[in-house]
Amino acid sequence: MKAAIRTHYGSPDQIEIASLDIPAPKADEVLVKIHATTVNRTDCANLTAKPFIMRFILGFSKPKQPIMGTDFAAEVIEIGKNVTEFKKGDKVMGFLDTGAESQAEYATVSTKNLFLMPDNISYAQAAASLEGAHYAYSFIHKVDIKPGQKVLINGASGAIGSALLQFVRQYKVTIAVTCPTKNIELIKSLGADKVYDYTSEDFTADTKAQYDFVFDTVGKSTFGKCKPLLSKNGVYISSELAAIHKMYFYP
Ligand SMILES: NC(=O)c1ccc[n+]([C@@H]2O[C@H](COP(=O)([O-])OP(=O)(O)OC[C@H]3O[C@@H](n4cnc5c(N)ncnc54)[C@H](OP(=O)(O)O)[C@@H]3O)[C@@H](O)[C@H]2O)c1
Repeated sequence: MKAAIRTHYGSPDQIEIASLDIPAPKADEVLVKIHATTVNRTDCANLTAKPFIMRFILGFSKPKQPIMGTDFAAEVIEIGKNVTEFKKGDKVMGFLDTGAESQAEYATVSTKNLFLMPDNISYAQAAASLEGAHYAYSFIHKVDIKPGQKVLINGASGAIGSALLQFVRQYKVTIAVTCPTKNIELIKSLGADKVYDYTSEDFTADTKAQYDFVFDTVGKSTFGKCKPLLSKNGVYISSELAAIHKMYFYP
């Protein structure tokens, strides 16, 4: 099979297309034929091993997994001997932030990282829906959002932000967002009640507004700047490390 590989950490120039053997699935894995994958922000982090802490997972001096790729939409070709949840021909999708080796014609995947694709979407749509939604879910699965609360999403037109907007609207909350002028109508159609146009407005200046949650999905704000906007017991979460941590993790 053909696969996009790299042998050390660094820039995209070192990625090559190699011819490799098709892998065989272990007992709890399936072999899939990849129909769609993406090049996403997690791939960039895995390529460069930045922040540095990622080397503890990806391999300290060089990558343990040479094949790139974290997400996929694919068809099951072969199943391992213990697999009962999936069968040959199933259309499946998955995302693994530590690497799914999916920028290849075939990949083996553990069933715990595999989901059946909804019938009404294409392989391309399935692959494109995974990474942003994965991180968006990490914003909400440890907090208790209640109907009637107020949520602000900074960066609602990004991969994480647009997925988060669609998740939080299920809670029947009031949603304020930031996005650029060109995306205001799109973002309103996804469920935003109030929009700050970040090209002309600074949402942190609106200190009369009070939010139970400020989710910064683009990492452009700070807790200090957003604190005046938080209600009593309000929660701030960002997709980016705080400046002090960046000094340690991006040496
Ligand atoms: N902690 C983690 O594990 C983790 C994982 C993944 C990503 N991240 C971080 O999360 C951030 C977003 O990731 P993503 O994949 O969603 O990126 P993305 O798809 O590129 O989205 C970022 C969006 O932010 C919008 N934007 C740019 N400047 C802005 C500003 N000043 N105010 C508000 N919105 C602004 C842009 O919208 P328009 O295009 O509409 O202008 C852009 O689409 C990145 O900084 C990334 O490093 C962290």
